Amino acid sequence: MQAHPPGHLANIVEALDALQCGAVLLDRNAVLIHVNRRMGEMLRVDPKDLIGRDARTVWPKHRIARTITEGLRRFEEDREGEATLPLPGGKELPVTVAGRLLGPAPPFSDIRVVTIMDISQRVLADELLRDQHREVSKLSDTMVEMAIELKHHSERLEQRVRERTRELHDANMDAIYMLAVASEARDADTGAHVRRIQHYSAQLARGLGLPDREAEKIGYSAILHDVGKIAVPDDILKKAGPLTDEERAEMNKHTLAGEQILSDKSFFDDARKIARGHHENYDGTGYPDGRFKDAIPLAARIVRLADVYDALRSPRIYKPAWTHDDTVRAIRDGAGTLFDPTLVRVFLRLITEGQLAWPQQQADS
Ligand SMILES: [Fe+2]
Repeated sequence: MQAHPPGHLANIVEALDALQCGAVLLDRNAVLIHVNRRMGEMLRVDPKDLIGRDARTVWPKHRIARTITEGLRRFEEDREGEATLPLPGGKELPVTVAGRLLGPAPPFSDIRVVTIMDISQRVLADELLRDQHREVSKLSDTMVEMAIELKHHSERLEQRVRERTRELHDANMDAIYMLAVASEARDADTGAHVRRIQHYSAQLARGLGLPDREAEKIGYSAILHDVGKIAVPDDILKKAGPLTDEERAEMNKHTLAGEQILSDKSFFDDARKIARGHHENYDGTGYPDGRFKDAIPLAARIVRLADVYDALRSPRIYKPAWTHDDTVRAIRDGAGTLFDPTLVRVFLRLITEGQLAWPQQQADS
């Protein structure tokens, strides 16, 4: 065992012992010429017990032996890497190992200096960092899951709101139909009339280029055009023969009565205009106000045409249903007098394209 280094190494040994990292000197036969103090502390051994030993035999079964062998094989090369050193009690010390020749010329070129840095703190910090990273990943996974769950929840809520809105709309429509049918039932016609008026009016509005929502609104508002007939006495409403002037005047009041019956909610805005204006003629000869052209609300002009079209095509006590051709001719002839000529053009186009057809009427004709 070589307890004292050769004289030419004394200064170097002194320098190595002052280092904060582990350091060893070994020769080409793997003999440990020196092991510094810090190295002894790291390995928890007395450096003197190692000096003079073949480094490969210190931990013969540990993989560090292979690293030492490899270092000897490439004795001249500067090498650097990470490794672990065995500690008493089976523990492992993570280290970085850097080896190079002590000098370029003999005797220093026959000695390798190997510095060993304890990186257990760094490894611990790395592990801590990895743990934190895993935690953050888990947390972000959880957050993603929560965000997805929230999104699903809000979609379910939206779906419920849509369903409720649809139910409310349907309930409103039911009420509208019931009201319309109740007023119509006192007349000669049935409830089917109002649904046809709804269809024709919505189609005419679409044909004019109105947005679908607006067209639909005009459609369901049209259902209530004759709701004011509730206020007309039965003996006038159901009279088989022609009406007297007085009775006619009373009958015509269904327009004003309809407007009054409908609430002032914005939902019924179009319906009120339609109820009041659906007997106005484009040339100003209609009732109750004798308005003409654009002074008549568009929705009322639309229903005027739809109402007459349906009345002509339907049988009444006092007349059979007109044929398709006769009806179309009458509407065309009414352009500019009874009806808005623009609407008549739209009507004729829809008729030609088959877009006005009502399923039940298709069956009749
Ligand atoms: Fe009417």
